[in-house]
Formats: sequence, C-alpha cells, structure tokens
Amino acid sequence: MAQTMGSDFKKEGACRGLSNLPRPSRKFVNRNQEIEDIKKHLLPHPENDCSCVLVHGAVGMGKTATAIKAANEIRDNDDNTAVVYINCNVVNSCDDLAVKISQQIYDFPLNEFTAEIKRRLISEKDLLIILLLDKFQSLDPLHRNEEANMNPEITRIDQTEELKVKKFITEIITASTKVKLLVTSSVWACFPETCQQTVRLDPLEESASFELLKNTFNRQLDVEIAYKIAGFCDGIPLALISLARPSTRSCGNDDQRQPRGKIQEIHTNS
Ligand SMILES: Nc1ncnc2c1ncn2[C@@H]1O[C@H](COP(=O)(O)OP(=O)(O)OP(=O)(O)O)[C@@H](O)[C@H]1O
Ligand SMILES: [Mg+2]
Repeated sequence: MAQTMGSDFKKEGACRGLSNLPRPSRKFVNRNQEIEDIKKHLLPHPENDCSCVLVHGAVGMGKTATAIKAANEIRDNDDNTAVVYINCNVVNSCDDLAVKISQQIYDFPLNEFTAEIKRRLISEKDLLIILLLDKFQSLDPLHRNEEANMNPEITRIDQTEELKVKKFITEIITASTKVKLLVTSSVWACFPETCQQTVRLDPLEESASFELLKNTFNRQLDVEIAYKIAGFCDGIPLALISLARPSTRSCGNDDQRQPRGKIQEIHTNS
C-alpha cells in the first residue's frame, strides 16, 4: 500500500484517501521542538499514557499549521495510523461530528447513530486513530456565535450540543487506548482523565520570522526592511504572512493590475 509522494511522504498511512487532513505548507518554518513533542506524546509507547495533546497559543500563532505538520509526519511514517481532521468551526451538533469522523475512517456508507459510531471507535483494535480537532474554541457557543455574527457562512451551535460533543469525545478517549486527541485552541481547554499534555506555541524567533517573510514574499527582499517588519510582527506567523502574501491591487489602470504584497507597498512608499 506504500506509495511514494515526494520525499516527505513515504507511506500512505491508514485511510489516507478518506481523511480530510490537509497537507502541510511547503514553506513551513521552525517549530521542530514543538512537532517532536506532539509526536512523542501521541505515539504509542508502554510508558506513555498521554491520550490528549493540546496545542495552545494566541490567535495566528501557528497552532493549526503546526498540528497539521505533526499529524502528517505521524501518519506518513505509520501505515496503521489514521488521522481524522475536524475543523470545529463547521461542527454544529454531536451527530454531525460523529458523521464527520466516521466518513474519514470507514469507506462504506454509515447511517448509524452516534452511539454506534462511538462503539466502533472504542472497539477499534488495529488502527491508531488520531482525532485532530482544530479550532476547538469554536465549540463554545459564545465564541462561535461571535464568529457567526461576522461571517454568515458560519453556523451557530448551542450549549446542549457543545456539552454532548465534549462528553462524546471524552468517553471515547477514556475508554480506548487506540484513539488519541490532538486539539488546537486559542483558549485553554481541559480533558480530564486523558493525561493531557500541552504544547505551547510562542512567537517565532527573529530569524524564523525573517525566513517566513522571505519564503512567502518569494521575491527579492531588502534584508534590513524585512528584519524591521519581522520585528513589528512580534513573531506572529499570521501577521507575517498577511504582510508578505501577494494581494491584487490596481496600479494605475486595470491592465496594469499585478500581485503586490504589503511589503511591496512599504518598499514603494519608503
Ligand atoms: N511555522 C510556520 N511556517 C510557515 N507558515 C506558518 C507557520 N506557522 C503558521 N504559519 C502560517 O501562518 C498563518 C497562521 O497560522 P495558523 O492558522 O496555523 O494559526 P493559528 O494559531 O491556528 O490561528 P487561529 O488562532 O486563528 O486558529 C497560516 O497561513 C499558516 O500557514
Ligand atoms: Mg488555527
């Protein structure tokens, strides 16, 4: 079943064709220690009783990108590991979550009740299943509804469903040694009885910030200006990417439209 997909992807990993796990960014920089920590905590080992890793950090600090990179590395080195990727932003009930999980593991149609999906997950013997729950804070109705107010495409969730989802997950994780949680959240989250480990993401160092800017901008970059911008962004990847990513702006007339990044504008205006 192993298939070569470029040097980073040596093996298929279980259920790869079903999984919604995105590929990591090719321009990913740094975070080596954090990725090693996530892998160490999640990989099965007789002395490792951790079944939940929380990747925690401020908004835009790279939680999703780092968790995705670690999950890909785990899966690509183990044919018996499946990764289920769930963006909690689009989960609107416990039944919805159960279906979204089962669709990424079972390649036959499932019209079963949530309880049956839970039973299947708990009785799993062969596969190690990593549930990557991204943007976990979005399950909190207060948080979700704030996002929904700003973006009409985001559906709301109520507190009954939030509690059901949390109970569903906790019951699976505590009853099974084959299902593990990898959670990203900008708000602290606690999973009792899971020997939870936390990997905290701090701002990138100056040299990594510079590398991220350079990779994203993808054109000649004045080193002095780049370091200044990296300093302004306080090592927050989202800020760095937003400044460096090309945007289409009109320059003179429509025929002269060309991609420009904010950095380009800074160069032009300086
Ligand atoms: N180490 C990195 N290397 C390259 N790009 C990165 C890195 N970390 C983050 N990014 C990029 O920065 C942007 C923000 O990262 P990401 O979405 O992972 O942050 P986040 O902490 O999950 O944000 P949120 O709190 O909104 O969920 C994304 O475009 C991501 O690809
Ligand atoms: Mg995120």
